[in-house]
Amino acid sequence: MTSSVMQVFASYLHLIAVAIYLGGSITMEFVLGPAQKYIPPAQAQIVGQKSADRFLLLVWGSLALFPISGMLLFFSLGDQHMVSKGHFFNTSYGQTLSTMMFLWAVLVVNGLVITFVLRPKLTSKLSGDLGMPSAGDKIKLLESTATWITRITRIDLAIALVIVLLGASLSYGNGIL
Ligand code: HEM
Repeated sequence: MTSSVMQVFASYLHLIAVAIYLGGSITMEFVLGPAQKYIPPAQAQIVGQKSADRFLLLVWGSLALFPISGMLLFFSLGDQHMVSKGHFFNTSYGQTLSTMMFLWAVLVVNGLVITFVLRPKLTSKLSGDLGMPSAGDKIKLLESTATWITRITRIDLAIALVIVLLGASLSYGNGIL
């Protein structure tokens, strides 16, 4: 594959990942979330759970695609000279790119917490597996877990918006850091 075909392909994959991650997060936050308030709580819980299950698959797919397409972009664009010979952290390009990678890692950690800690708690409470003493305790724990998922999801959305700004500054300049 020639370099420019590779660049287009890598850029295509990278932008598809951005569209899935950011588009999905914005839809969940500003479309599905508010709409759920207009349906009975029991049904809203099921819709929330099922849509989050499916969305998490897309989240993990796009999180995996970012470093693959990003590295492909980096090498196909020939940007290595910007950060080579130990100058990685001394150039604006290197600082911006490493900040993007760090923030991507934060998204991954947050994704792991939601997928493997908070969601299992939520689903076990919803199906009554925890054997909580009273319904009141159960509802309280359910609400606090759901609140934490919402908080982390909003933080992720803000982080993703910052990364897009950093990415654009790399594509149309030498970075902004
Ligand atoms: C390990 C993770 C990542 C790596 C290695 C990476 C790498 C890159 C590289 C090398 C570029 C092109 C720079 C240039 O044109 O010189 C880029 C652009 C970009 N990246 Fe990433 N990136 C990563 C994660 C992300 C994430 C998580 C997002 C968004 C949520 C993102 C959004 C963008 C955007 C919007 C652009 C500009 C694309 C354009 O204007 O065509 N990147 N990235």
